[in-house]
Amino acid sequence: MRPPLDAPDAVEADALAAREAAPDRAAQRLIETLPGRDFRDALGSFATGVTVVTTSTASRELIGVTISSFNSVSLDPRLILWSLSLASPRFAAFRQASHYAVNVLALDQAWISDCFASRDHELFHEVRISRGRSGLPLIDGCAAWFECRNAAHYPGGDHLIFVGEVERFARGATSEPLVFHGGRYRELRADNR
Ligand SMILES: Cc1cc2nc3c(=O)[nH]c(=O)nc-3n(C[C@H](O)[C@H](O)[C@H](O)COP(=O)(O)O)c2cc1C
Repeated sequence: MRPPLDAPDAVEADALAAREAAPDRAAQRLIETLPGRDFRDALGSFATGVTVVTTSTASRELIGVTISSFNSVSLDPRLILWSLSLASPRFAAFRQASHYAVNVLALDQAWISDCFASRDHELFHEVRISRGRSGLPLIDGCAAWFECRNAAHYPGGDHLIFVGEVERFARGATSEPLVFHGGRYRELRADNR
């Protein structure tokens, strides 16, 4: 008898059947073995928004990093995720942070994305900020802000995955987001349909 659909055995059996049905296994293996640069380029075909994740350390230093791996996870409870390279100069500070804010950049904030993707440590001199509930730096003029308590860390290869519980959020005056695709900033084309 076939087990219920959500049983792990059924899921594994379905995955096995799908793998066996793959029409061209040799071509698939070829794609899997292409060099790392091609893997990055393929990932870049997935368009994302751009965020700057910010926090305030125990010694009250403000830090932030440009992040496009932000995504929604759950509505109830309100959970989001993002991932940070283990090699990031800000890695240790973010791993220790109990709270952080995700600042969703607006179309005219590509320069802020560039700023927080650099290794410069004086980044906060360049931007205007307000303070969130736990003193988190919130960058002015963003499309949205999510103030989070870190709920969990998960290993993710050469990145660490952060899952945050959203304690407070707000939307900005602009609804025009900054978009990142194929290694370039883009804007959304008006929807005329
Ligand atoms: C648009 C954009 C998105 C980025 N997204 C991420 C990300 O999701 N995770 C990450 O670890 N680094 C991401 N980065 C890279 C970091 O912002 C930053 O450049 C890096 O940590 C700085 O260290 P590096 O000079 O060693 O690259 C992104 C950079 C840009 C410009």
